[in-house]
Amino acid sequence: MKIDLAGKVALVTGGATGIGRAIAAALSASGARVAVNHFGQNALIADVLDTVGGGARAFDADVTDAAAVQRMVAEIEAQFGPIDILVNNAGILLEKPFLDITENEWDRVIAVDLKSVFLCSQAILRSMQPRGNGCIINVASELAYLGRAEFSAYCAAKAGVVGLTKSLAREFAPAIRINGIAPGPTDTAMLSLDQISPEWRVKELAIPAARAAGPEEIAATAVFLASDFARFYYGQMLSPNGGALML
Ligand SMILES: NC(=O)c1ccc[n+]([C@@H]2O[C@H](COP(=O)([O-])OP(=O)(O)OC[C@H]3O[C@@H](n4cnc5c(N)ncnc54)[C@H](O)[C@@H]3O)[C@@H](O)[C@H]2O)c1
Repeated sequence: MKIDLAGKVALVTGGATGIGRAIAAALSASGARVAVNHFGQNALIADVLDTVGGGARAFDADVTDAAAVQRMVAEIEAQFGPIDILVNNAGILLEKPFLDITENEWDRVIAVDLKSVFLCSQAILRSMQPRGNGCIINVASELAYLGRAEFSAYCAAKAGVVGLTKSLAREFAPAIRINGIAPGPTDTAMLSLDQISPEWRVKELAIPAARAAGPEEIAATAVFLASDFARFYYGQMLSPNGGALML
């Protein structure tokens, strides 16, 4: 079974680090030309493009800003041609007791984790729909299903991503396939002690697999969903999660 994405153009949001970077590299290794979105991470970009290879280019944009997203999509289309594969991967985490979350914090998490999926999908579907093919892959989280104390804004946003994925899958089928990934704990900056407490890191890893995934293990699911082997998948959330959640 060989996945061949030659001739396809892919955009990966939040692609400078972690899961997004691994997805960008895996899509590129499968033959796609990859546009790597980042958010002012210029210091990382030379290294990222080196890892991703295959003529990848970087596009700096805040995916919560509608005008910036539209500019980015226009630039990618001018440089690479129409986008065939969109991976909505950018995200942030907030661990905080519900009663301490400020309105600004709530709005930021919803903007980065959910509104960005609306903005990027809408910007790209406007040209993808008339062309009559393409696919979108939304990175949610197993926590969309499990819920988690002190991660309410994140869980709410990711549950929103699941609902948006299923609704768009129905609206744009059969020509465009829209699916998602709900990863379990994955070794990236998001799972580091800078981002979550030691208590939650221990709980995150208390799963049947007894370890976190490597980002490349999540990327494999994205490449599959982008490929023709997933042509009967519509509105599905695939969950590489080490057994944390058995759907
Ligand atoms: N690491 C995990 O355990 C885990 C588990 C489930 C889901 N996820 C999801 O996977 C995705 C990738 O996360 P990761 O674990 O690789 O962490 P990460 O922090 O390495 O990656 C997130 C990326 O999103 C980018 N980003 C944040 N705000 C942005 C903005 N406004 N515009 C553009 N880019 C922006 C960041 O710069 C970063 O590169 C996220 O959606 C996350 O919620 C991660």
